[in-house]
Amino acid sequence: MHAFSTWALAWLQLLAVDAPKKAPADTAAQKPIDLVWMAGPPSNARPRGRAPRNTAALRGRGAALYVQHCASCHGENGDGKGVSAATLDFKPADFTSGVFKLRSTPSGTLPTDTDLFVTISRGMHGTEMFPWHRLSERDRWALVFRIKSFAPRFAQEKIEKVLEVPKAPTQTEELVEEGRRLFELMRCNTCHGSEGAGDGPAAALYAGGGAGRAVRVRDFTKGQFLRGREPEDIYLTLLTGLDGSPMGPYETLSSKDLWALSAFVRDMVRKIPLPDVPKTWDVIAPKRSR
Ligand code: HEC
Ligand code: HEC
Repeated sequence: MHAFSTWALAWLQLLAVDAPKKAPADTAAQKPIDLVWMAGPPSNARPRGRAPRNTAALRGRGAALYVQHCASCHGENGDGKGVSAATLDFKPADFTSGVFKLRSTPSGTLPTDTDLFVTISRGMHGTEMFPWHRLSERDRWALVFRIKSFAPRFAQEKIEKVLEVPKAPTQTEELVEEGRRLFELMRCNTCHGSEGAGDGPAAALYAGGGAGRAVRVRDFTKGQFLRGREPEDIYLTLLTGLDGSPMGPYETLSSKDLWALSAFVRDMVRKIPLPDVPKTWDVIAPKRSR
């Protein structure tokens, strides 16, 4: 187990440095790395300790770490236009806008500090946004504060509401069938396709990326989810939407309907047998953090 993790980490590090420069534009989707860091649910990437105070020392640390690890893609001033960005099919986030996909807060609002911490720790599966769990918790908090400093929104707006995910019901055939019905009724299939392969009639509209950032409709069958593929992850994504992408929020649906949809999404994944994937967070986040 440990030998594997060391190896996987070394490999990750290599790819994290080389991938953006070397990978030909159209091979991003086949990177085996996707499976290596498909870890446990996001709850496992949550901070174990409390956030440190945002002192001048921590801000200095955050600025240095940002230049070292993040600026090549996200840009020195956080605008998403780093030197490596041009080589990526799906562009890095522009932090100055304050718009984030992965939140536990309603659509249109800011993410919590913990949301950002989890994204940094866990990466965004199926994209060049790698996990940074190797950094100490303190360093990851320093980066959270650094990212927030790029967007004036964080100084102007308060987080009013954090959405709760209730306990998931047992995944039954009935629930999947109900989800299938809702998937059509809610027109999810117009983008995602009736089998969830990301090939619905509307998908092509987004491929060119109108607003400057190309969009790919998720292919569920591959089992790659930005946030994670546990029922709770999908439920939360449906509640919040992925802001800055065509994937809107479905917060007006009942919790029963959201569980049914999430069960159906997961059912589409299971149709293609996935290779043996290390399921535990420990595999990619050894206890001895440096
Ligand atoms: C190899 C390029 C690359 C590097 C290096 C990189 N990122 Fe990213 N990052 C991305 C891409 C691409 C996205 C957008 C993924 C998407 O939206 O599909 C992203 C998105 C993000 C997001 C937005 C998440 C959201 O909810 O929308 C955060 C936060 C983030 N990165 C933080 C960091 C931090 C912190 C570092 C440095 C430790 C870093 N990134 C390094 C490529 C990179
Ligand atoms: C207008 C087009 C559109 C519609 C309608 C739509 N989606 Fe999406 N959905 C997207 C796009 C685009 C993405 C990928 C966004 C990205 O990766 O940045 C996505 C991503 C997702 C994801 C993956 C989240 C992750 O963590 O990667 C799930 C699950 C999902 N959609 C479920 C649904 C369900 C269920 C419905 C109907 C209730 C629905 N979508 C309706 C466009 C759409």
